[in-house]
Amino acid sequence: MRSHYCGHLNASHIGQEVEICGWVHRRRDHGGVIFIDLRDREGLVQVVYDPDIPDIFAIAEQVRSEFVLRVEGRVRRRPEGTENPNMPTGEVEVLGLGLEVLNRAETPPIQLDDEDTSEELRLRYRYIDLRRPRMQEHIRLRARVTRALRGYLDGQGFLDIETPMLTKATPEGARDYLVPSRTHPGRFFSLPQSPQLFKQLLMMSGMDRYYQIVRCFRDEDLRADRQPEFTQLDVEAAFLDEQEIMTLMEDMIRGLFRETLGQELPEPFPRMTYAEAMERFGLDRPDLRIPLELVDVGDLMQGVEFKVFAGPAKDPHGRVAALRLPGGGELTRKEIDEYTKYVGIYGAKGLAYIKVNELAKGRDGLQSPILKFLPDEVVDGIMARVGAEDGDLVFFGADKADIVNESLGALRVRLGHDRGLMEEGWRPVWVVDFPMFEWDGQNDRWSSLHHPFTAPKEEQLDLLKTDPGACHSRAYDMVLNGTEIGGGSIRIHRPQVQQQVFRLLDISDDEAQEKFGFLLDALRYGCPPHGGIAFGLDRLVMLMAGASSIREVMAFPKTQTAACLLTSAPSEVAPEHLRELSLRVRRPQAEEK
Ligand code: AMO
Ligand code: AMP
Repeated sequence: MRSHYCGHLNASHIGQEVEICGWVHRRRDHGGVIFIDLRDREGLVQVVYDPDIPDIFAIAEQVRSEFVLRVEGRVRRRPEGTENPNMPTGEVEVLGLGLEVLNRAETPPIQLDDEDTSEELRLRYRYIDLRRPRMQEHIRLRARVTRALRGYLDGQGFLDIETPMLTKATPEGARDYLVPSRTHPGRFFSLPQSPQLFKQLLMMSGMDRYYQIVRCFRDEDLRADRQPEFTQLDVEAAFLDEQEIMTLMEDMIRGLFRETLGQELPEPFPRMTYAEAMERFGLDRPDLRIPLELVDVGDLMQGVEFKVFAGPAKDPHGRVAALRLPGGGELTRKEIDEYTKYVGIYGAKGLAYIKVNELAKGRDGLQSPILKFLPDEVVDGIMARVGAEDGDLVFFGADKADIVNESLGALRVRLGHDRGLMEEGWRPVWVVDFPMFEWDGQNDRWSSLHHPFTAPKEEQLDLLKTDPGACHSRAYDMVLNGTEIGGGSIRIHRPQVQQQVFRLLDISDDEAQEKFGFLLDALRYGCPPHGGIAFGLDRLVMLMAGASSIREVMAFPKTQTAACLLTSAPSEVAPEHLRELSLRVRRPQAEEK
């Protein structure tokens, strides 16, 4: 039907007769001449119809936005002064000699040029929304990314192996999506939160190197970078240690950015311990583009009268930290109030600050509601420690360490955005030396920081018995510009260690046998040392595309409430169908009343 893509035509085609197909992006009537911007996957080209051929002109007069056309015409240079340097095809136009309407379109419910269309409409009419040049670019980038990743892994001897979707629960920290079984009444499959257990079993099968681009399902609270159904690049290898895996994986990511974006990432990626990330950035996924850091000042505050600071300074689980904002002295009262509200979201009870007007004047050169509570030597100590300069503002957080970390960590990122402090470029970092466990105060027990199959450091095995909280794991996260794009670890390959970790996590031997018996068994029949990683493909492509949400790089994403507006899923099912599955629906209580 066609000889060229619309978006490929350029000056080299001048004089040629071409046949192109596509959608009407815009149609303009210009005093007897009709201009149609015809759009296909590769771009737009301008087609011109003169009244010279009256029957064709009559058809051109009737076409509307999003009609599907087949055009025959001759490529010619645009008249001087009408070139469009912003379009790849902007030097040329097609003089229309033939025109066939392949299909008409009703007035579309969304305008492709309108950037303010509500996301609801965009998702409901996703097939139209995906016609936007930007969305087409995202989807094409995604395809190039998966091709490059497959190419690299294939070259390194990794085998693409599929694992089941109807399976047993994999504990990755979210709720499972369940699928009822018809043939086993009252029983359910879980959709995998990740292929974690299967990829470990594949190592035990001697597959040596495995990868998969695979859908994962997690029923959790959604955010801009989370979807209930998302894609991982999942990798596992036997007989490689964490250094070898990290080297391979960063090599893959560097190659990916070079091949698909033509951009260089640092070699090697810097590494940072979890403890350092928390201390300096308050988060385990530091955005290194922002030149602000948290600084501990607890030791200076222990003796002050101001209880808000002294309390956490003396509490072993507390933290008092400062965050210096260069030039922050110009923040208005209103802006500071706004930031105080913002840290409140993370549980902070306030946001103390000191404005540094003129350091040389000592206390008189500073301005702050808390100054009166702090003796001179404490004030001087703080100013020296944070490296304060005239015109700065120093924020303070004082509370339990996790609240200070979360709130000042988030404030740091927000200030980075608001104040235009983001440096350009890509700042990858490996975060390593994670604790094995964190204390879950709500349930009064330890929980895994990664998943329960993550190996503890060999030299710290004893700590599992004596001081689990001090035990570090052989896990590693890859963080890019403040987003965790991948996480993995060396796995436990000895049954006794796995059992010990289950017990620590308050998983009884019976429960472990019931849930993971197959894994514990497999560990006894010749399990090689192994480890791996999984990348969030959607997050990776989101960053590469410069998009604001993973929904922008997924063809058919779900809403924040995990619904598909396009197909109206989830939906009710017929009573017969439920009966077949031995299920009865219990209405939520509110509805019953
Ligand atoms: P983890 O749970 O860290 O590790 O997941 C790996 C990566 O997947 C991405 N990700 C998500 N992306 C979109 N929406 C979500 N809801 C979502 N949840 C996670 C993140 C994350 O870094 N089995 C382990 C990996 C391993 O140990 O090999 C796992 O799944 O980018
Ligand atoms: P208050 O004594 O409660 O009026 O607080 C004095 C100042 O300390 C105000 O600027 C508060 O925002 C700030 N503040 C209160 N609690 C905290 C806290 N936990 N961390 C940091 N600043 C706080």
